[in-house]
Amino acid sequence: MSKSLLTVAMPKGRIFEEAVGLLRQAGYAIPEEFDESRKLIIDVPESGMRFILAKPMDVPTYVEHGVADVGVAGKDVMLEEERDVYEVLDLKISACYMAVAALPSYDPSADVAPKIASKYPKLTSDYFREQGEQVEIIKLNGSIELAPIVGLADRIVDIVSTGQTLKENGLVEIETMIPITSRFIVNPVSYRTKSKQIDEMVDRLAEVVSEEVAK
Ligand code: PRP
Repeated sequence: MSKSLLTVAMPKGRIFEEAVGLLRQAGYAIPEEFDESRKLIIDVPESGMRFILAKPMDVPTYVEHGVADVGVAGKDVMLEEERDVYEVLDLKISACYMAVAALPSYDPSADVAPKIASKYPKLTSDYFREQGEQVEIIKLNGSIELAPIVGLADRIVDIVSTGQTLKENGLVEIETMIPITSRFIVNPVSYRTKSKQIDEMVDRLAEVVSEEVAK
């Protein structure tokens, strides 16, 4: 990876558009081609930046290993991955929350050995341990809402954004867990060695975030 360019790890998928929008508002020229192409690395030498496009769950891994200096990651991913990175700014984008959901007919008091399906096994296990409930966690990689419908799990732990996925699959939320937004994260070594560029980026982003909140 380049020593001179500031490498920014961006999350693919639903956070991407909002994250790119925020960076553009902060004055960073991210090429239009990034929105459409399948390219995973794009250099913008005039801004002194390189963007890499990763799976959202992997962004903190790239940043922890220092192949990206900074990145944008959801709080859900930060709690699940527990990587050694600094979380320096709440970008307040892609707001959603984690919740426990089940079929409306589900009776927790009748459930002696509950099975919980989730893409977030660590976060789920921490949550139920804190609640003092013993559960079996079934790790899935997506379409979590399917699990209770087909009888793979009794409950699910997942992200709720509009609530549409739960609704369309006939599930109901039974507990709200944690509010989630995207965070700006920084590699601890880069924070020292590229402090000027990173501080400037954090300041510019913080300004845009506070303008957005004030709207
Ligand atoms: C996420 C999440 C829920 C859904 C929630 O899945 O896991 O399934 O979005 O959004 P909603 O409340 O607006 O319906 P995503 O679409 O990212 O795909 P996945 O099922 O493959 O994880």
